[in-house]
Amino acid sequence: MTPDLLEEGARRRAAYAQRLAQAAGRTESGGRQASYGRRVAGTEPDFAHGVALYVEDLSVSFDGFKALNGLSLTIDAGELRCVIGPNGAGKTTLMDCITGKTRPDAGRLSFGSNIDLLRLGETQIAQAGIGRKFQKPTVYEALTVFENLELSLQGDRRVRATLAARLAGEQRDRIDEVLALIHLKGEAVRAAGLLSHGQKQWLEIGMLLVQDPKLLLLDEPVAGMTDEETERTAELFLSLEGRHSLGVVEHDMTFGEALTQGRRRVTVLHEGSVLAEGLLAEVQRDERVIEVYLGR
Ligand SMILES: Nc1ncnc2c1ncn2[C@@H]1O[C@H](COP(=O)(O)OP(=O)(O)O)[C@@H](O)[C@H]1O
Ligand SMILES: [Mg+2]
Repeated sequence: MTPDLLEEGARRRAAYAQRLAQAAGRTESGGRQASYGRRVAGTEPDFAHGVALYVEDLSVSFDGFKALNGLSLTIDAGELRCVIGPNGAGKTTLMDCITGKTRPDAGRLSFGSNIDLLRLGETQIAQAGIGRKFQKPTVYEALTVFENLELSLQGDRRVRATLAARLAGEQRDRIDEVLALIHLKGEAVRAAGLLSHGQKQWLEIGMLLVQDPKLLLLDEPVAGMTDEETERTAELFLSLEGRHSLGVVEHDMTFGEALTQGRRRVTVLHEGSVLAEGLLAEVQRDERVIEVYLGR
């Protein structure tokens, strides 16, 4: 290699280093630092009973108002579970509790049969293997799609190490695999800021997937998406089933239909509790569910 090329390479690496460091220090969209965590060695959740998440009798009050009121549900290992409910039902609050953002007043939360989530902080919960996607996408807009995934894979507190080290082949393979899953293979070197809203949402899901979370929580992931993007998102989630457990929160039933395909269970929340649970067709026939959705 000629000295010129070496110099050019060094310059590019330095510019990249600077962009990564800048990106790690701020959130480009969404106004909040995403809490991506790297899995660390330690206690692995025990799914031997077939259950990934236990939520038992969970209650949360805000100034006396019960946002969650004795809520109980479980998500099986590898299950794709839709949680639906009208606005204000407590869906986001439930996710806030599972991920350690909000402390419940009462109840139990267990990841597998052995990890008491109420004893862990947000970062530890992410490290234990629970990934969460917020309603608004929060990607680093100045970085490319690939760099966003790379940063997430490495963990943002290790930016310096990232810069020094070449990506291991295995990690590169995982990024390629995720790029294909999220339909962004052709956009890998584009700046994330140039993506459509739907593509940004997929990128953020990809940023969770490179970390291979055991449980993935998605809060209204198709809000603002076109019909085609919504359809592709449903396909993506269905393709993740089995390898990951998924909790997908939605307020309308249409996406629920695409996800459940007549055979997966849904949980309907209302006023902080479980109103109904079962196949979508069953809960749609439930008088109380009809009243909550149509009766006002
Ligand atoms: N930090 C908070 N302070 C006060 N009230 C809150 C707070 N977070 C949520 N709530 C209230 O709790 C209820 C449930 O909210 P949320 O979990 O966001 O519902 P959903 O996501 O199902 O629309 C709503 O009535 C909401 O106004
Ligand atoms: Mg919400």
